[in-house]
Amino acid sequence: MTITHTISRLLVLCCSLLFFARTAPTHAEEPPLSYYDKITEAADYIRARWDQTPDVLIILGTGLGHLAERIEADVVLPYEQIPHFAVSTVESHAGNLILGSLEGKRVIAMQGRFHLYEGYTPQEVVFPIFVANRLGAKRLFVSNAAGGMNPRYERGDIVLIEDHINLFGCNPLTGPNDERLGPRFPDMIEPYSHRLIKMAEETALSLGIKTHQGVYVGLLGPNFETRAEYRFLKGIGADVVGMSTVPEVIAARYLSMEVLGISVVTDMCLPDLRETADHDLITEAANSAEPKMNDIICGVLKQLD
Ligand code: HPA
Repeated sequence: MTITHTISRLLVLCCSLLFFARTAPTHAEEPPLSYYDKITEAADYIRARWDQTPDVLIILGTGLGHLAERIEADVVLPYEQIPHFAVSTVESHAGNLILGSLEGKRVIAMQGRFHLYEGYTPQEVVFPIFVANRLGAKRLFVSNAAGGMNPRYERGDIVLIEDHINLFGCNPLTGPNDERLGPRFPDMIEPYSHRLIKMAEETALSLGIKTHQGVYVGLLGPNFETRAEYRFLKGIGADVVGMSTVPEVIAARYLSMEVLGISVVTDMCLPDLRETADHDLITEAANSAEPKMNDIICGVLKQLD
């Protein structure tokens, strides 16, 4: 055997060893958990700490977290303790799941929600809806702070969302569909329940609270819109604009949950007024209009069977 021959055999041997060292599993790899299984793990974790069946999941939007104080809480779970929950990064969002009773109904309240502009995937944003539904919640009450584009609205007004337009450019239901969760092509003809809107209107009327019915358009953000965009959004039929709600409502309807959506108008988005939008002012306006919204939510809860 020549020396060149020996060297080339040694080289082949070294390369093979290197190849196997890189590809051989160092430990038995677990298959990744499916979305369905992640929901199961999160729901099991919550059920072990709160053995009730919730009637409603309530999502408290920006500056709208005080309803939590009216809940007789049995358990408060920070999001970071719940398996597979993302963690809220917006300062005004507390990031707790509150489990308890409100107006005699069992509720789960999300104090703080996940926004797409924070960098979460659409599936992470809507994960809590799936978990609440797995625990038995058949209804979603969702609130948000929104910019008013309808000139009949005023800052501090309450808008009962009657329909929405999805301009996020994404959807939480894309990807392979798990038929155990819902249908491939869910219907969206009545995303917001007319029955719940009527109950909310009657409650508001009896309390002397002015409400509107309007269309919510959801955008990715995080920048507020340009004046040309406000003109466009109003032109396509939207009354209020915000950066949330639509993904959650799509997921809830996929799960056949009955939805009530409420916007608090925190600033007016009339292009010719040239008012600048400011997050602190929006939070302040949401805080001061919030008691009206909370009264409506409590009134509807009271009427639920
Ligand atoms: N755009 C404009 N104004 C707003 C928004 C928004 O997304 N959210 C709350 N006020």
